Amino acid sequence: MPANAICFFHRGRLVEVRDAAPTRTVLQWLREDARCTGTKEGCAEGDCGACTVLVGEPGRGGKLALHSVNACIRLLPTLHGKALFTVEDITAAGSGALHPVQQAMVDCHGSQCGFCTPGFVMSLAACYERHAGTKRRPTRQQLADELAGNLCRCTGYRPILDASQRMFDLPAAPACRSRRPPRRCARCRAARWRTPRRAPRCPGGSTATSRRAR
Ligand code: FES
Ligand code: FES
Repeated sequence: MPANAICFFHRGRLVEVRDAAPTRTVLQWLREDARCTGTKEGCAEGDCGACTVLVGEPGRGGKLALHSVNACIRLLPTLHGKALFTVEDITAAGSGALHPVQQAMVDCHGSQCGFCTPGFVMSLAACYERHAGTKRRPTRQQLADELAGNLCRCTGYRPILDASQRMFDLPAAPACRSRRPPRRCARCRAARWRTPRRAPRCPGGSTATSRRAR
């Protein structure tokens, strides 16, 4: 691997990006290079949450620690050694099964426009992944706080908050069950993942919190 290559997992494979400008953002790479346009650009300055993605890295006990970040202000080189998940990645490929967040958004009529909805889904996916499998459920106020970095300028937040509570009542999606512990990369010491037969899956972190969900 060239010394200037950025190495991370995306879409089930190890991606090497060479000669990327240090100021290139994750969002620019996703939309312009990888052609993954499910992640939207709204404000492009870290305020609206439309560009929310999940970044995974080895956490405690070998578990995948997931953090939601704003891709528009996250610089691509900071992905080195990590895994990237977008709204296109949380549904189990080929199974037709929606992630519990997506299903809850359908059930509660929480889906809104194509700009804000992917961001809402990814912030809730991060919350779901942090709490699923534990006995502790976040309160409605805590869920509202989770969405504080996701703005909608035209509709409302009540159905989305309903969905954020309902998602914990739904069965886990296959992609979630198949989450694998991270392993060291055999090719690239800086990267902490080795190419597994199946890359780490499923989406957790902190989005910018500029306003509280209404
Ligand atoms: S486009 Fe990234 S936070 Fe608005
Ligand atoms: S910004 Fe998407 S519905 Fe308001």
